[in-house]
Amino acid sequence: MGAVDDKDLGADLASVLITQEELQAKIRELAAEIDADYAGRDLLLVGVLKGAVMVMADLARALHSPVSMDWMAVSSYGSGTRSSGVVRILKDLDTDITGRHVLIVEDIIDSGLTLSWLVSNLASRNPASLEICALLRKPEAAQAEIDVRYVGFDIPNEFVVGYGLDYAEKYRNLPFVGTLAPHVYGGQA
Ligand code: XMP
Ligand code: MG
Repeated sequence: MGAVDDKDLGADLASVLITQEELQAKIRELAAEIDADYAGRDLLLVGVLKGAVMVMADLARALHSPVSMDWMAVSSYGSGTRSSGVVRILKDLDTDITGRHVLIVEDIIDSGLTLSWLVSNLASRNPASLEICALLRKPEAAQAEIDVRYVGFDIPNEFVVGYGLDYAEKYRNLPFVGTLAPHVYGGQA
């Protein structure tokens, strides 16, 4: 738990789930797959703010192919830990994705509600192709009818923070993924 103590968060975090080294190794693996799959094609990475900032930045730099990057901000969560099921666009893409090869880059799929909404929204803009890369996937996502082409880690059904993921806007800057101690969020993952 040395890394936890480094940021003085020992009391808030229950454990380190995925270390910085494991994250970086997985990002390199995903990047190699994406490089191979999109060879010779013009790829647009669409990052979902704010959680995907870290994975997007590291993934984009691990890719050998030149890519474009754009961002969307949607909201399906308040400051709590439960999906409301209601998705709002807070910031739309700057790019017209018609005819483009689009890869959505997400931090985490939980119920899959956010992503399935995003997929149908982006699909209606007629991209040449549309795929998803999610760093983390929780068990419930298996029930969602969503085809995620690239998945980093399947994780247990616990509330996780770090590497872009927040609880009430905190912990995003942790370089690892940790589980939050139940006393911090009231025990409801
Ligand atoms: P759904 O349920 O729609 O949720 O797939 C996806 C979005 O919910 C947030 N989310 C989390 N954020 N720790 C977080 O910091 C978590 O354990 C967690 N689970 C879901 C996240 O914003 C994701 O895009
Ligand atoms: Mg997110």
